[in-house]
Amino acid sequence: MTTSAAVQTTTNRLTFAAIEAGQGLNAALKQPPADALRQVAFSGLRGRGGAGFSTSLKWELAAKSAGERKYVVCNADEGEPGTFKDRVILADFADLVFEGMTIGAWVIGAAHGIVYLRAEYTYLRPHLEAVLQRRRDAGLLGSAVAGQNGFAFDIAIRMGSGAYVCGEETALIESLEGQRGEPRNRPPFPIDTGFLGNPTIVNNVETFAWVTCILAKGADWFKGLGTEKSTGHKLFSVSGDCARPGVYELPMGITVAELLEEVGGEAAKAVQIGGAAGQCVPAARFDRTIAYEDIPTGGSVIVLGPQRDLLRMSRNFLEFFLEESCGQCTPCREGIPKLLEGVELLQNGRCSMTYLEELCGLGETMQQASKCGLGQSAPNALLSIVEHFQDEILGRVVAKRPPARRERTA
Ligand SMILES: Cc1cc2nc3c(=O)[nH]c(=O)nc-3n(C[C@H](O)[C@H](O)[C@H](O)COP(=O)(O)O)c2cc1C
Ligand code: SF4
Repeated sequence: MTTSAAVQTTTNRLTFAAIEAGQGLNAALKQPPADALRQVAFSGLRGRGGAGFSTSLKWELAAKSAGERKYVVCNADEGEPGTFKDRVILADFADLVFEGMTIGAWVIGAAHGIVYLRAEYTYLRPHLEAVLQRRRDAGLLGSAVAGQNGFAFDIAIRMGSGAYVCGEETALIESLEGQRGEPRNRPPFPIDTGFLGNPTIVNNVETFAWVTCILAKGADWFKGLGTEKSTGHKLFSVSGDCARPGVYELPMGITVAELLEEVGGEAAKAVQIGGAAGQCVPAARFDRTIAYEDIPTGGSVIVLGPQRDLLRMSRNFLEFFLEESCGQCTPCREGIPKLLEGVELLQNGRCSMTYLEELCGLGETMQQASKCGLGQSAPNALLSIVEHFQDEILGRVVAKRPPARRERTA
């Protein structure tokens, strides 16, 4: 890998640091909304919040959606364990985020923006309000954005409710509306029926910041980075057993081994990619790439050294999910405690092979049948540990027979 492409937490070395306030927005406003959208589409940008949905497609659908009052919502809930890159972006590059939201408003025809800010980031609010005020004073927000008559847009900050599930976009909208933060049935999707029933785009903090860079530096530049299906650079929050933890900007498509070399984590026996909801990748598979077509992630990378007890980690994650599940659907509400119970039996050497197989089957059912990403991904870590670390697992089951192999997608 090219080490020059990697940039550690020293945020003045990130691409974002080279973009001046107003640069991306002025470029966007020089063209009709449809042309600005074409730039985003050509760049190939996919959402940086984890799911990797095409940003331009979401915006195109919202632009076409009938509705007088449209909303641009920035998802700054950042609750995934091991993720902290949005906090860094908000602290150091809030202008780029607000500017990306303003470009989104220009594209879809919205006048209202909302930042849903993680409750634990309350300390960032005065700083963010100050940046917003500075942008209003500079005419970059308000009744005629950058002097563009007929384009009014402003942004309000609303505090999150301290629940991980409120990061899921429909639960976030429920929470914004003052309801309990529970995921909605989809369809209808937020682009049609979002905040207060109006067309709404919800995007991650980093996604908005990259939109600004794309308009400022050109879609060609972004498309030329990363892979064909996962263009551009991405910010990673790296923690755990490595010499240089921090926030890194790296090209999409980097291998796990290259990333580990960058952060000083070569001795790792595994890497948990995508936070608690992600997968545990063993050393034998460090040739895999971090990209939507292989290992997708919102950016959390937890390096696990040889001494780490992976079952203990999966128990920790399941305890987290148990605490955070909204309890609305049966597979998640009933499945998580069962998986946790199973991990406890394993830890105590009291789990039989038959029961382990049942647990794996239950995990697969949860992946298929849970209503939202929380329940769908809660079994991921345990299932990947059972699949890749049989030595660690089988040493703790009563009857030592490898579980039947299941074909699962990456
Ligand atoms: C349980 C759960 C928590 C989530 N938390 C976040 C979050 O904190 N930030 C975020 O951007 N996306 C989060 N998401 C993903 C959002 O639902 C949504 O896909 C994302 O905000 C869309 O933005 P993007 O297309 O720019 O990635 C979460 C999803 C689930 C299922
Ligand atoms: S999967 Fe879990 S968090 Fe999501 S709706 Fe069902 S119970 Fe709630």
